[in-house]
Amino acid sequence: MKMEPIGFVRCAFTHPAQIPKGPGAEHTAEGSLEILPELESGLRDIEGFSHLFVVWVFDRSEGYDLLASPPTDDRPHGVFATRAPRRPNPIGLTVVELVGRDGPRLRVRGVDMLDGTPILDIKPYLSGIPEDRIRRGWLAEAEARRRES
Ligand SMILES: C[S@@+](CC[C@H](N)C(=O)[O-])C[C@H]1O[C@@H](n2cnc3c(N)ncnc32)[C@H](O)[C@@H]1O
Repeated sequence: MKMEPIGFVRCAFTHPAQIPKGPGAEHTAEGSLEILPELESGLRDIEGFSHLFVVWVFDRSEGYDLLASPPTDDRPHGVFATRAPRRPNPIGLTVVELVGRDGPRLRVRGVDMLDGTPILDIKPYLSGIPEDRIRRGWLAEAEARRRES
């Protein structure tokens, strides 16, 4: 397998501590996805979508733990049941709102990546799963415990 970035994230976050995390964290920060000029024609018709999946690399993360302790809970969980940066394949997935496009630059809202993060792929966000079929696992349980305490 060999992959190359299709572009890079540009945003104000230069240190992980600047990115909201933990219970109730909201991701409203704006930034841009700077796509390589030679790939610009691959963005044709993207403006019609309100939200995008961004697949990217945790390029400033090293190694992994099979049990992760997310800031949203006081108990560890299997890394594949979390969004922890330290994972066997350090791939990130973020849904962003597409605010606008200037050529190869997509202006987006909802970034949780550091400035300069390499982007592997972009796809339109589509979900056909009805809300009442979605289970939120340990996260729902942790939220319920917090409400009770
Ligand atoms: C919990 S992860 C979730 C990322 C993504 N939404 C996901 O689900 O894959 C978000 C955290 O990753 C870290 N992070 C962001 N960009 C990174 C990068 N390029 N390399 C390493 N860590 C990064 C920051 O600490 C940020 O708070």
